[in-house]
Amino acid sequence: MNKEDIYKGILLQVKFLFNEERDQTANLANTVAIMKSTPLPFFWIGFYIVQDNELILGPFQGLPASSRIAYGKGVCGTAWKEEKTQIVPDVHQFPGHIACNQFSRSEIVVPVFKNGKMVAVLDADSDKMADFDETDAHFIEQITAVVGENWNG
Ligand code: SME
Repeated sequence: MNKEDIYKGILLQVKFLFNEERDQTANLANTVAIMKSTPLPFFWIGFYIVQDNELILGPFQGLPASSRIAYGKGVCGTAWKEEKTQIVPDVHQFPGHIACNQFSRSEIVVPVFKNGKMVAVLDADSDKMADFDETDAHFIEQITAVVGENWNG
């Protein structure tokens, strides 16, 4: 199965999830569990949620990670500041990258918007270099659009 088809399958499952259940924590947890259970290279995947002026770790799959990320810091904080998807082919080349573990090599961080306001980011890491591209961005942005439309935090 190619990457596009895997993402289309994820999108169907995530839409179904949000139609069936209203609880946000349950839905965010199942969203990352669905994504992690595919052959896509999500070594670590999880949400960071905007609370006051920080990003706080939300539901995730993978090794323990930083609990808090400041505005503008790391890849996640940069996605927040720029309100824009970040594709990082080599995390060691990203100024201020926050290393949550020694294995992550490339990363993609996609904002979640509710009514145009950024409320969270979805962060995915791979243990291989340059593992994410515009196709990942395109589909993960569709997934975060479903999350944002249903945001009730
Ligand atoms: N690398 C991220 C921090 C989160 S971990 O990857 C799970 C960053 O630089 O924002």
